[in-house]
Amino acid sequence: MYLTDEETRMLNGEKGEAVRIAMEILVALGESFDAERLVPINNVHMAGSSVLVAEEAGTRFVEDIRKKGGKFVTKVTTNPTAVDPTQWEAIGIPESDTILQTRLTDAYAGMGANTCNTCIPYLVGNSPRFGEHIAWGESSAVVYANSVCGARTNREGGPSGLASALTGRTPEYGFHLKKNRYGKFLVKVETSLRDMTDYGTLGYFTGLIAGQDTPVFTGVPSDPTLEQLKALSAALASSGSVSMFHAVGVTPEAPSLEEAFGGGSPEKVLIFGDAEKAQAEAALNREPSDHVDWILVGCPNASVEEIREVADALQGKKVHQDVALWVTTAGAMYAMAERNGYIKTITDAGGVVVRETCPFLARSRVIAPKKGYKTLTTNSAKMAFYAPGQFGLPTHYGNLDRVMKAAINGVWS
Ligand code: F3S
Repeated sequence: MYLTDEETRMLNGEKGEAVRIAMEILVALGESFDAERLVPINNVHMAGSSVLVAEEAGTRFVEDIRKKGGKFVTKVTTNPTAVDPTQWEAIGIPESDTILQTRLTDAYAGMGANTCNTCIPYLVGNSPRFGEHIAWGESSAVVYANSVCGARTNREGGPSGLASALTGRTPEYGFHLKKNRYGKFLVKVETSLRDMTDYGTLGYFTGLIAGQDTPVFTGVPSDPTLEQLKALSAALASSGSVSMFHAVGVTPEAPSLEEAFGGGSPEKVLIFGDAEKAQAEAALNREPSDHVDWILVGCPNASVEEIREVADALQGKKVHQDVALWVTTAGAMYAMAERNGYIKTITDAGGVVVRETCPFLARSRVIAPKKGYKTLTTNSAKMAFYAPGQFGLPTHYGNLDRVMKAAINGVWS
């Protein structure tokens, strides 16, 4: 891989040991993907910021980089952690995780990260511009950045994101190259997409077929909300390893079908109609009984608008006494929702608005038995896809209206 003189000096340790290690990681990564060079970047969203992922070894690695003089040279935002910093004990998060998490978050902050600890960095001030090369982790945010923003990123892991933040570089391969950003197959949407959950169901259906390939959608309404696009992004990256999608007439690199495919033809054509939507939604409903105990709204993290919708559903009502309702969000969203009275409405009704973590990145295999949770009920296709395998809870899956009725009535119907 070609390195500039400055990059060669970085690799030789002339800019310190932390930068030398970072360059070693990037060169190894780039060579393994046949990258010809590194591209300059100024924007990293760091995966690996939860101790559920990093554990003790990963935390020590990040601390060690800091001790070696590591300083971030790019804008850096961080993904959710394993801990809600103010309510961890009440919601069942182990104390050992809070201690370890403080060390990891401090290490990132000490090198210059904005520890926003959310999977929606684009809603808390890190919104990349069209065509910008970035190095983002967190699969749902990667799909959103590539597809909706038109920025260019591969799916970075913790070490490669860290290395990019220390050097301001990322290897130029994959989705950094225009030739790799065209669609591979076509999905004709021939059913209504009414809410976030329908978009999530479409993403789940498509991801199962996609593998790593980029889908192109036709038939998507021309005015989807940000929340609907983030639900689609998250689900595509869960049942599949998708990094990007095109929606013709909606996303910036797909003004036409021809441009979405780069002048080529789709390798296959699928239909997402009423039957496919119903089958996909049924497949994410893996709990046969009507038992409800743990409810999750906010995967990806809830926007202020989603928090408002939960608050509206709870006006004058109470969450059922046998149900724990979590709404997971970023600290910045929480602050705005608090100012508007939504947090008070939700908490007065018995719900919990959780900051900086989610069931996937907190230690749910400990939390669920401690709290007696046996199922997970959610409007998120991503969470419904992961819950059975990742933390052993079968799921109820449906739109927010259905989920909030379950929160209030204590049964799934
Ligand atoms: Fe975000 Fe956790 Fe879902 S990181 S996308 S809320 S699994």
